[in-house]
Amino acid sequence: MSEPNIKREGFSSGLAVFFATLGSAVGLGNIWKFPYLTGANGGGAFLLIYFICIVCVGVPVMVSEFYIGRRTRKNAVGSFKVLTGNPGTPWKGIGLMGVAAAYLIMFFYSDVAGWVYFYCFKAFTGQLAGITKDAVGPMFGQVIGAGTAGQPLSAATLSPLVWQVIVMTVVGTILSMGVRGGIERITKTLMPLLFLLIIICDIRALTLPGAGKGIDFLFHVDFSKITAPVILSALGLAFFKLSLGMGTMITYGSYFTDDNHMIQTAGKVAASDTLVSMLAGLAIFPTVFSFGMEPSAGPGLLFMTIPLVFNQMPFGGILLACFFLLTCFAATTAMLSLVEVPIAYFVEELKVSRVKATVFNCVLIALVGITATLSVDSSSYLGQYKFFGKGFFDLYDYLSSNIILPLGGLCIALFVGYCNKKEDIADELSNHGTLANAATVDAYRFIIRFVSPALLILVFLNSVGILKF
Ligand code: TRP
Repeated sequence: MSEPNIKREGFSSGLAVFFATLGSAVGLGNIWKFPYLTGANGGGAFLLIYFICIVCVGVPVMVSEFYIGRRTRKNAVGSFKVLTGNPGTPWKGIGLMGVAAAYLIMFFYSDVAGWVYFYCFKAFTGQLAGITKDAVGPMFGQVIGAGTAGQPLSAATLSPLVWQVIVMTVVGTILSMGVRGGIERITKTLMPLLFLLIIICDIRALTLPGAGKGIDFLFHVDFSKITAPVILSALGLAFFKLSLGMGTMITYGSYFTDDNHMIQTAGKVAASDTLVSMLAGLAIFPTVFSFGMEPSAGPGLLFMTIPLVFNQMPFGGILLACFFLLTCFAATTAMLSLVEVPIAYFVEELKVSRVKATVFNCVLIALVGITATLSVDSSSYLGQYKFFGKGFFDLYDYLSSNIILPLGGLCIALFVGYCNKKEDIADELSNHGTLANAATVDAYRFIIRFVSPALLILVFLNSVGILKF
């Protein structure tokens, strides 16, 4: 099936495959979105639903993307051409939609990553030392500094733009070094370090007086809190966190080794990603409760609460710097996988050199990303421009996460479930018969044909507002 293509790069070992894939999954989604959503949606009850979503939709869609990628050894668009044997196949639209989603996500993700880099810089240079409760809000405002509608941009407003450019320069530099020299080398170094850093933060947080309340908050199962929107938001989060629905895992799958047990890899990545999310929750909530603070929503939780709480403990300065450093790592390795989707497409389909493709894509993202950076809320410099009632920042987020990812995931499930031969799927997932996993493959195929599409159709109809729960 796969064309002989000895020049094509790939990951060198099973360990490299695991860390690169995990590096994609673990990102800003884990460090602030997961703890906050878990807390806001009923703690343990939300966790339970989330686990079910991971098993019934997340892992099966991930295996499907791996299958498409490794079977063809092609990018997110070319893979559909090879699998259908038709260069004009409409299925390649899934890949093109994925390339578009990678841009949309990167436009705002690179902005948020810029805030994290800036906070990391501030933590390391001691600028967050002794910060008070009254100062964290203005500090956050200054960091995201999106200007004011109708007023000229000041030099202070330019700082998030500068940090966004720094982020894209780091991402571009790593990506231009290639799959093995860039992505593999960086993720293999950073992922174990991330585990270590987060566990250090956990030990400190869990030994604080009153930490138990935070643990309670996170794990207490209250079934009355399980409502349809909670189920749907758990499913959406599972998608975003596992980097599914837009060809990231097709592209990474195409770099996998021939002997990789892909079902196992998907399971291990999903489990480890969830573990990282829970470790992040265990660092944040006990600390928040121990200091008698409110677990506030979204960006506030990470950027305003964390500096405050870490500052009030021994070695807080160092721990705070470590915390932001690990968030930088997580965001960076996730961005590598996002930008790799258009890069692989440019290199293989449009025949552009890797370095040129990298420079072009990173510059494009940094330029268009300005619109997201200057529109974080309605009073921002570009805040008055609204499309369907949303500013640029929210629009990019909404279009990608709520529309393209679930739609992409659904199409991928249907494509593999109904348009690929059972023997081909079994052949690829068993590494040409060398793994005895026939029963698992059958179970996988059943889920991908019936269970995942049904759940995804529900989420999709809800997110576009056709069906309101
Ligand atoms: N999973 C990453 C996070 O949790 C973000 C991400 C990387 C992503 N690649 C993706 C999300 C592809 C959707 C699709 O932050």
